[in-house]
Amino acid sequence: MKLAIVGHGYVGLVTACVFAHLGNDVWVIGHTAEKLKRLQSGDPIIFEPGLEELLQKNLEAKRLRFTSDFTEALQGAAVVFIGVGTPPKQNGEADLAAVLGVAEHIGKHLTNPYTVISCKSTVPVGTNLKVAEIITRVKKPEVQFDVASCPEFLREGTALGDTLHPDRIVIGSNSKTAIDTLLKLHKPIDGERIITNLASAELIKYASNAMLATKISFANMIANLAEASNANVDEVLHAVGMDKRIGRLFLYPGVGYGGSCLPKDVKALIHTGESFGVDMALLKEVDQINISARKKILKKIKEMDDTKHIAIWGLAFKPDTDDIRESPPLHIIHELLEDGYHITVYDPEAMENVKKQMGSKITYAKTSYDAVKDADLLLILTEWNEFKQIDLTAVHKLMRNPAIIDGRNIYDPATIREKGFSYVSVGRP
Ligand SMILES: NC(=O)c1ccc[n+]([C@@H]2O[C@H](COP(=O)([O-])OP(=O)(O)OC[C@H]3O[C@@H](n4cnc5c(N)ncnc54)[C@H](O)[C@@H]3O)[C@@H](O)[C@H]2O)c1
Repeated sequence: MKLAIVGHGYVGLVTACVFAHLGNDVWVIGHTAEKLKRLQSGDPIIFEPGLEELLQKNLEAKRLRFTSDFTEALQGAAVVFIGVGTPPKQNGEADLAAVLGVAEHIGKHLTNPYTVISCKSTVPVGTNLKVAEIITRVKKPEVQFDVASCPEFLREGTALGDTLHPDRIVIGSNSKTAIDTLLKLHKPIDGERIITNLASAELIKYASNAMLATKISFANMIANLAEASNANVDEVLHAVGMDKRIGRLFLYPGVGYGGSCLPKDVKALIHTGESFGVDMALLKEVDQINISARKKILKKIKEMDDTKHIAIWGLAFKPDTDDIRESPPLHIIHELLEDGYHITVYDPEAMENVKKQMGSKITYAKTSYDAVKDADLLLILTEWNEFKQIDLTAVHKLMRNPAIIDGRNIYDPATIREKGFSYVSVGRP
């Protein structure tokens, strides 16, 4: 099947590479010549495990092309996916300028007798209908199309596996032809098929992310109570999560959720709910608890005497990605800089992205060991495996003052104190 995908970020590029890998002829549309050139030469631009190899393999097989030309990309394409960003506006609402702008381009350049236009971007209820309205307004009269919502559930860091083996594939459309076309395209991919109307598919994506964010904020609330009452949050949540109705995943306390999805999707869902007159108090609290989680870490730092030089391990919003959008570590660094701390950072993948944003305001170390040299405090903010397997005796020797604040609870408190560290974590005595 020929496909066109607009957008080549985490969603667009992964979707393109996976569908090309499955034998489709995939055309990716972007709007920056320099990025398209890099992609066409096999550089994925973003870091995602396995993506570079898959990109290069499919470029060689000529199943993948990058262009800014809508006409050649759309010609003969059975499905056009929209995978552009939907960032938050100041008031939390999803900014749909890119999605709706792309819809207009698609409409103007459609020449096939029939095409399915499917939104993979996370968009509020009603957006796919707006996409349909725009296309209807600008398309040639002889051209036919249907819209379908096909929300994306991949996680950065495991995006290829998630796309090939998802828990479910949601297809929302009012058109049987569009649903059948998307079912055919997804045939080689695992996962239960959920067929819904447009609004349900749009809402499923937001409700899923809001539930994940709620679990994290719930874990942080219980961590606060555990800290105040001498309970151990790890033991509590382990036992709570063993109940199959609840589940263990995403029930972890720490410095809060970040990334390009959960923070913005929670805010956008609050906005959507309120625009329909629905009380969204629960999610407002989830958002507030998330902000307090990082404020709590800052409070713990400020309570430590004689701390000037802080080493930070972890900048990405989670392990196995270079994505620093809405990353809790970045929020924490900005506040620490305002208070005059000297900061040295290390992250296995996100350093270049942070350099672009923070420049010379902080010091960049080449390794985790370099980062802790002469530090008064080590702050762990992303749970990369590398940090779990570190030689702590070497770290102890390198630090001026062997103190750790572990924002992700990656170490066992007893073991680490035996090694001579002063150690503070989240919700554990
Ligand atoms: N990143 C994730 O883990 C993830 C998971 C599920 C859903 N989503 C959703 O998917 C969408 C895209 O997310 P992402 O992380 O891939 O974003 P991204 O920022 O990595 O990529 C967005 C892409 O859109 C392109 N773009 C923007 N405006 C354009 C335009 N006018 N014409 C052509 N291209 C344009 C950008 O150049 C970029 O390639 C968002 O709605 C997001 O919420 C993201």
